[in-house]
Amino acid sequence: MATKTISELDIAGRRLFVRVDFNVPLTPDGKVSDDTRIRESLPTIRFAIEKGARVILASHLGRPKGKPDKKFSLEPVAARLAELLDAEVTLTDEPVGDGARKVVSDLRAGAVALLENLRFSPLEEANDEGFSRALASYADIYVNDAFGSAHRAHASTVGITRFLANKGMGLLMEREVKFLGKLLGEVERPFVAIIGGAKVSDKIGVLDNLLGRVDQMLVGGAMANTFLKAKGGQLGRSLVEEDKLALARSFLRKAEERGIDVLLPRDAVAAAGIKADSVRVVQSMAIPEELAALDIGPETARGFADTIARAKTIFWNGPMGVFESAPFAAGTLAIAKAVAAAAGALSVVGGGDSVAAVQKSGLADKITHISTGGGASLEFLEEKKLPGLAALET
Ligand code: 3PG
Repeated sequence: MATKTISELDIAGRRLFVRVDFNVPLTPDGKVSDDTRIRESLPTIRFAIEKGARVILASHLGRPKGKPDKKFSLEPVAARLAELLDAEVTLTDEPVGDGARKVVSDLRAGAVALLENLRFSPLEEANDEGFSRALASYADIYVNDAFGSAHRAHASTVGITRFLANKGMGLLMEREVKFLGKLLGEVERPFVAIIGGAKVSDKIGVLDNLLGRVDQMLVGGAMANTFLKAKGGQLGRSLVEEDKLALARSFLRKAEERGIDVLLPRDAVAAAGIKADSVRVVQSMAIPEELAALDIGPETARGFADTIARAKTIFWNGPMGVFESAPFAAGTLAIAKAVAAAAGALSVVGGGDSVAAVQKSGLADKITHISTGGGASLEFLEEKKLPGLAALET
């Protein structure tokens, strides 16, 4: 089985359906607040325009529950894309239907249309055959550049490929597969994974799979609380997944048997709650009863940074604390700086908050690869077969 790339497809003058992941965050007044995913799709879109394809872009945005909802319209995305491309982008009034068909059939070579939010129909997520066929009827060739949605088996990522035999990966998809794939192959050592976020249960698959590959694993975020409690720590009011303590214990045992260092926080920035006025640095195994750990402490941040500085291969997913709130952002920012400063290392960052931290630190250009995938990058590193990628094989 092989997968073609867009450069191997004869797209000149043809109708090209490009599934992109324009699922971007919006401000409360409906503007695009982070256009990373749109920017990362530009190379594929520009390539298609330059080749003279008639470009039909399609994406979901948010989770509108299968019906049109103005809050989830791709209108602000179309406007931002038009700015970035410095070209007209015609947004259809619905994902499929007479209006969309007309826009698509009127497209000139090198022109770009964007279908309205695919999830305005319940048939998209149902991977419905009729809906897939309707999407496919707009185009001659299919390209999937939506790495962020490759773990979803939906009509626009899987169903459509049954009706368009001429198919392949876009340039972003190709880049994601290349760099995340490197982490699953022979890498330069030490290989350090930094995993944060709220829940052990969300990350256990990737923790398990990476255990067989990394030399050190640094664990932060609220999920570290569950590991600390599993080791007998007093966690005060910190978020702990009580029903995952046994899982955490068995993971730590496996790591020890294999001689892999799992480094947990030694100190924490704690407070009575996210909105509390006073914050304190405390020992992470002995959080006072009235406090919750909300970020890794300075000693932990320094220790993690030292380990990262010696790494030759780095994967980072998930924040070290409640990064959105300034008093608890320092740990995550310290990790962003350390990863960016790891000169000569292959560094890959995935997941919304860790990517946002890298952007905020202004050091994004020092990272080898910033993945546009959250769940998709984790499933890729779990070595699960991503349906959106499998569907492209010929
Ligand atoms: C993401 O942001 O992870 C993708 O766009 C997929 O979105 P979903 O989790 O709503 O399917």
